[in-house]
Amino acid sequence: MRGNGDSAERERWARRATSFGTQAAVYAEHRPDYAVAAIRWALEPLAAIEAPAVLDLGAGTGKLTGGLLAVGAEAVAVEPDASMRAEFVRRYPALTILAGTAEEIPLPDDSVDAVVAGQAFHWFEQSRAFPEIARVLRPGGVFAAFWNIEDGTTEWVAGLQRVARSEASTTPPPPDQPLPGHPLFAPFEKAVFAHAQRRTADSLVETIGTHSHTVVIPADQRAALLRRIRDYLRARPETAAGEFDYPLHTEVIRAVPR
Ligand SMILES: C[S@@+](CC[C@H](N)C(=O)[O-])C[C@H]1O[C@@H](n2cnc3c(N)ncnc32)[C@H](O)[C@@H]1O
Repeated sequence: MRGNGDSAERERWARRATSFGTQAAVYAEHRPDYAVAAIRWALEPLAAIEAPAVLDLGAGTGKLTGGLLAVGAEAVAVEPDASMRAEFVRRYPALTILAGTAEEIPLPDDSVDAVVAGQAFHWFEQSRAFPEIARVLRPGGVFAAFWNIEDGTTEWVAGLQRVARSEASTTPPPPDQPLPGHPLFAPFEKAVFAHAQRRTADSLVETIGTHSHTVVIPADQRAALLRRIRDYLRARPETAAGEFDYPLHTEVIRAVPR
């Protein structure tokens, strides 16, 4: 999942992975949460535990953390970016959030029932992250990764995806892309859940302005790109005025340690 190509591609990928903090407050306000059904599915292997301890890895401002709390989990968070952590603390002052990465998780062995990653697993260096995730999981635990993906089968969304591409955009993975795997984990399972976010043209521009491929480009290109997106949304009958549903699906993969 990480930039696997030449050194320039790896450098671009690393810049995107560390870009979110510059937009932390807008991110916290405008990024979507995750479908609750997806969170329940991810934690299904822990059904016998009343309030499972869950690590939100790459927690950002806490978008997935809020969903974990809503389903009765006890959450702890790890996040490398100081600005994202500051927004997290503003929203969840009673929770613990630690500075750290998936490759070096600052938790003891066997300390949580689940590790989850919202829109973050693709930034991890998997060969180092999987052993760390396995190390902090208790026996019988589960790892799950979540993504909110725009529903490109909706015509205006497909048009938006074309308009919103920047020089930093990568080709989206094909839907039949093989699931990740690691010898420490049983094969991954995948499930997809319908989801949506209420948006206006302006607030959807704010959302897209937190996507890393719009953050890492030069300021003049970014301004032109966001203007183009706003013009597109104002011209489409579905999004020109008032609130509308931004159609998403929450995709989840989960695996239990062997
Ligand atoms: C798109 S944001 C997702 C944040 C949050 N999980 C959410 O669902 O909104 C990706 C997050 O992954 C974090 N991240 C990037 N590389 C990471 C790594 N190697 N280990 C842990 N987190 C990482 C970034 O700092 C950022 O907060």
